[in-house]
Amino acid sequence: MRVGLAADHGGFELKAQLTEDLTAAGYAVADFGAQELVAGDDYPDFVVPLAWAVARGEVTRGLAICGSGVGACVVANKVPGVRAALITDSFSAHQGVEDDDMNVMCLGGRVTGHALSWDLVQIFLSAQFKGLERFRRRLAKVEALERLKKS
Ligand code: RB5
Repeated sequence: MRVGLAADHGGFELKAQLTEDLTAAGYAVADFGAQELVAGDDYPDFVVPLAWAVARGEVTRGLAICGSGVGACVVANKVPGVRAALITDSFSAHQGVEDDDMNVMCLGGRVTGHALSWDLVQIFLSAQFKGLERFRRRLAKVEALERLKKS
C-alpha cells in the first residue's frame, strides 16, 4: 500500500514521526510536504496535492495533518473523490473506512500525540470498506453532490 502524507507547520513533527513509523513498517510513503518547517506556511499548499493524488489513485490512502486537523480536513474534502475525516479515536479510525470509505485521515499535530496517532494510522490502514448496499447508497448520494455545479 502506498500512503501519502502532507502537513503544514502545525503537523510537521508528527508527519516526520509517522513517516518513520510507516517506512519501518514496510509501507511505501509519498511525502507531499512541507519539506521543511516554516512557521506560518499554509496547509492547502500541501494537503491539496495529496488529496488529488488520493482522488487519482496515485496513493492508496492519505494522512493530512495540521495543528488541529480541522483545516486539513476542510480542504481535503473539497477535492472530488476524497472522503476525509478528522480522527481522534480508534472506533472512527476503522468505522470511517468500513462504512464511509474514508480515504484520507486527518490528524491534529497539536492535539493527538505521536503514540496515539500511530495507533490510529495502523487501524485506518488495516481497515477495508465493507461495501454493503446501504453504505454504497449513501456514498452515491455524496458523489451526486460532488457532481452538482454551484449556481
Ligand atoms: C496553525 O497555524 C493552524 O492554524 C493550522 O495548522 C491548522 O490547525 C488549521 O486548521
